[in-house]
Amino acid sequence: MPEKKILKEEIREIKSFKALKKALGMSPEDVIAEVKASGLRGRGGAGFPCGVKWELAHKAPEREKYLICNADEGEVGTFKDRYLLQKNPFLLLEGMAITAYAIGAKKGIIYLRDEYHCLLEDLEKAIGRCREKGYLKDLEIEIQEGAGAYICGEESALMNSIEGKRGESRFRPPFPPQKGLFQKPTIINNVETLCNVPYIIQEGADWYSAFGTSESKGTKLFCVSGDVKNPGVYEMEMGCRLQELLDLAGAENVKWVQVGGSTGAVIPSGMFQKPLCYESVLGSGAIMVFDGTRDVVDFVYRTLEFLNEESCGKCTPCREGTEVMVEILGRLVNGEGVVEDITALEQLGRVMKDSALCGLGQAAPIPVLDTLAYFKRDYENRISQATLLRNLKAV
Ligand SMILES: Cc1cc2nc3c(=O)[nH]c(=O)nc-3n(C[C@H](O)[C@H](O)[C@H](O)COP(=O)(O)O)c2cc1C
Ligand code: SF4
Repeated sequence: MPEKKILKEEIREIKSFKALKKALGMSPEDVIAEVKASGLRGRGGAGFPCGVKWELAHKAPEREKYLICNADEGEVGTFKDRYLLQKNPFLLLEGMAITAYAIGAKKGIIYLRDEYHCLLEDLEKAIGRCREKGYLKDLEIEIQEGAGAYICGEESALMNSIEGKRGESRFRPPFPPQKGLFQKPTIINNVETLCNVPYIIQEGADWYSAFGTSESKGTKLFCVSGDVKNPGVYEMEMGCRLQELLDLAGAENVKWVQVGGSTGAVIPSGMFQKPLCYESVLGSGAIMVFDGTRDVVDFVYRTLEFLNEESCGKCTPCREGTEVMVEILGRLVNGEGVVEDITALEQLGRVMKDSALCGLGQAAPIPVLDTLAYFKRDYENRISQATLLRNLKAV
């Protein structure tokens, strides 16, 4: 399949904004219908249908509504939003203006990752230029910087953070399009999602939905990192094979790939023909490549240490579950593991998946469970080496 480009094809110039002009000539309902027909789904990881969400906010009776652009991009191995913010800020602002018009929001907030402070000045300048040109007549956009917490990329924790509260996830329902920021209807979309919107309006839903698979339309920005010759941001049609991307990035002797960030699926080398799309495996677009020199158990231990550190602590399955997993994995990497540790990790993983409050705790066991499914021998080898050492010491 040839590499197809939409988002990397053209850098939006301030003078164009053709899609916004076209959208303002349509009714908000027609804009939403076009986005629904395009099949656009959220690029932040969860893949929720974009137009469906917008419609809920549009229909909400409150006059005050918010649009939030999620530019937190805290997911490990993800750097595609930075690419868009840096290279194509006018495309994002045009997408935000169209979205705000469709849902009826007069206030937009870009929640910018703490580590992207270096982009703040240029983004503010871009907003100022749009204002001067009259493109943001009905929309006030401000930038709110994060403070470095991974959980604040999760939409409800993000809203708490903007409200000046502790960054922890909220119970749902209510969902943000009903009661979001300051209890008002709110749409939260990822940077990449919003950047797709001008193309959909400009070229039409039929054009856009011709890209991709039945459930995953358009193209996707993938962030390839790790053991590859050419790391970077690649734009591919949805449904491309993982192997194609690995070939483009110059990956060799790959043992496994983690797709979608720190809580993403672990794909072993026999399964690289998997298509990358919502119906198969996707997430945020992070493609972290590990070659044969890497150790599976070390990788899982470090991943869980990160997730334990970043857990907001609000619910027991995640707060305690990640803690216990780190303890067990720590024993395994330190040569103190026992056979029962494997069963304990499997059981705990299943409980966390089913009972944690938000996506962090629900997905935290995925790297553990996936590697136990595909690389159990690596765990068993660690345990048998530890048992051997213990027996030798006892002699
Ligand atoms: C722990 C956690 C971290 C997240 N971090 C981000 C993030 O950095 N950026 C993002 O766009 N979405 C992130 N999300 C997903 C958001 O909660 C939300 O689904 C997304 O912003 C919605 O926008 P979309 O529909 O355009 O994808 C995260 C979710 C979880 C559970
Ligand atoms: S799953 Fe983890 S991050 Fe989410 S609310 Fe529970 S403790 Fe917080």
